[in-house]
Amino acid sequence: MIEYALKFPPFAISLGLFLLFSSLTSTTEAYDSLDPNGNITIKWDVMQWTPDGYVAVVTIYNFQQYRHIQAPGWTLGWTWAKKEVIWSMVGGQATEQGDCSKFKGNIPHCCKKDPTVVDLLPGTPYNMQIANCCKGGVISSWVQDPANSASSFQLSVGRAGTSNKTVRVPKNFTLSAPGPGYTCGVAKIVKPTQFVSQDGRRTTQALMTWNVTCTYSQFLAQKTPTCCVSLSSFYNDTIVNCPTCACGCQNNMTHPGSCVEGDSPYLASAINGPGKNSFTPLVQCTSHMCPIRVHWHVKLNYKEYWRVKIAITNFNYRMNYTQWNLVVQHPNFDNLTQIFSFNYKSLIPYGTINDTAMLWGVKYYNDLLMEAGPYGNVQSELLFRKDQSAFTFQKGWAFPRRVYFNGDNCVMPPPDAYPWLPNTSPRLIGPSFLPIIAFWAIFTFLIFICV
Ligand SMILES: *[C@@H]1O[C@H](CO)[C@@H](O)[C@H](O)[C@H]1NC(C)=O
Ligand SMILES: *[C@@H]1O[C@H](CO)[C@@H](O)[C@H](O)[C@H]1NC(C)=O
Ligand SMILES: *[C@@H]1O[C@H](CO)[C@@H](O)[C@H](O)[C@H]1NC(C)=O
Ligand SMILES: *[C@@H]1O[C@H](CO)[C@@H](O)[C@H](O)[C@H]1NC(C)=O
Ligand SMILES: *[C@@H]1O[C@H](CO)[C@@H](O)[C@H](O)[C@H]1NC(C)=O
Ligand SMILES: *[C@@H]1O[C@H](CO)[C@@H](O)[C@H](O)[C@H]1NC(C)=O
Ligand SMILES: *[C@@H]1O[C@H](CO)[C@@H](O)[C@H](O)[C@H]1NC(C)=O
Ligand SMILES: *[C@@H]1O[C@H](CO)[C@@H](O)[C@H](O)[C@H]1NC(C)=O
Ligand SMILES: *[C@@H]1O[C@H](CO)[C@@H](O)[C@H](O)[C@H]1NC(C)=O
Repeated sequence: MIEYALKFPPFAISLGLFLLFSSLTSTTEAYDSLDPNGNITIKWDVMQWTPDGYVAVVTIYNFQQYRHIQAPGWTLGWTWAKKEVIWSMVGGQATEQGDCSKFKGNIPHCCKKDPTVVDLLPGTPYNMQIANCCKGGVISSWVQDPANSASSFQLSVGRAGTSNKTVRVPKNFTLSAPGPGYTCGVAKIVKPTQFVSQDGRRTTQALMTWNVTCTYSQFLAQKTPTCCVSLSSFYNDTIVNCPTCACGCQNNMTHPGSCVEGDSPYLASAINGPGKNSFTPLVQCTSHMCPIRVHWHVKLNYKEYWRVKIAITNFNYRMNYTQWNLVVQHPNFDNLTQIFSFNYKSLIPYGTINDTAMLWGVKYYNDLLMEAGPYGNVQSELLFRKDQSAFTFQKGWAFPRRVYFNGDNCVMPPPDAYPWLPNTSPRLIGPSFLPIIAFWAIFTFLIFICV
């Protein structure tokens, strides 16, 4: 056992353990350390009692810093607690009416026990709209566009309670955005929402309000990563590519047609082939098989500044990424001096360390990352002021620590593959590795005891 442990470089073992632990934490809980309070809150405000139920305005608030809901938009489902029906809806619609055969005369909009609601499309007639509706289910992230980070619809519920004592809150909320990833808690009755009139001189309030909170987990969303990082620098010709099989492997045996060559004559038919509407990515064949690659190039070294070029490439033939965003962690972001052609905002989840940046496209210029092909990339350059106490090109310091694309973690190359600065001993173990070594030492010691 000890011999086994010693055959491998300590670093590899520690890295393996680290990956094990990080994957364990990401599987067991939907916690994102860069956005610890991020959630989607669904609020129901009962505005009016009706003879057999109530009228409610439902609002979906996206409180996530950098995760948005892109086309084809959100789908909200729930299970009624009793025998409720939806008489009518404004600014949204149930996807299926269900069996309304018991009703004579007035036919409800939806009789299903577990209705599924979607947003209406832009261009809906004004008499069918309410505020914040009709955007095809698209909701911006909180940082990118707070004014468009909510979506609402109104529904009239029948065969329900008609007072705050008899109403039963719906159960089993589900949110797809689009596809899996969100888990919703139970609806909680909260203090009724207060509404302040336009002139600010009168306050009204909902008759009753309940909230449901949904959180995201990348593990639930998809088993495989969707993004990887490649690295290069002016001081070393090596381009460190994304790890092989980062998002999947090219395998003709088990997954024939899992990817297409960019120059394949069958490209067009593959794009429109099976799976066209399932949102499964159709990627260009690469060693990493990721739909998205983020490349970080250390471009120039000035006396007081250094410059980085970031390029995002889309390898997915079936997706235009609208309002894409990138979250990057690097210790020099507290001295970011200039950024070209991307928007920037610092994220400081714990209010102290300014090392995380959210970057996104400039509206109408590069906020759309086109499908794989000649236009399927966006890029920018960053200029950092050197903090002389920390700045170095050694030990991969100039490369990012963590990268997220659209809120999903990107697979990084292993640290020992990073481009080296010439004339330095690459195996030199610096202070930053000391804790890992200590950890490894304890680990081997424990194994020793066990044996
Ligand atoms: C949801 O997010 C909002 C805004 O960040 C926060 O105030 C609220 O506490 C969060 N709710 C939960 C249940 O985490
Ligand atoms: C229902 O309304 C009454 C007054 O109208 C109020 O006292 C009570 O707290 C409300 N209950 C709930 C659960 O909101
Ligand atoms: C909740 O919804 C899920 C999926 O729609 C379903 O499998 C489950 O049975 C539902 N649970 C209840 C209590 O209705
Ligand atoms: C319910 O949600 C609304 C809107 O997100 C929020 O303002 C309110 O504080 C929430 N209430 C509770 C008790 O979480
Ligand atoms: C997959 O099949 C194609 C042609 O059928 C072949 O050129 C390619 O090398 C194969 N790839 C692998 C990984 O086997
Ligand atoms: C992406 O956008 C372009 C231009 O708007 C459009 O021609 C193309 O069909 C879109 N691709 C997908 C996969 O939606
Ligand atoms: C973080 O540092 C950058 C670069 O100096 C600065 O523009 C930004 O305002 C800082 N953020 C905060 C919250 O201090
Ligand atoms: C870098 O940023 C930190 C924190 O904002 C500041 O204290 C320091 O002076 C900056 N260094 C340079 C070289 O501008
Ligand atoms: C560049 O970095 C690679 C590691 O990625 C290393 O193998 C190579 O020797 C370096 N080249 C020079 C000239 O130092």
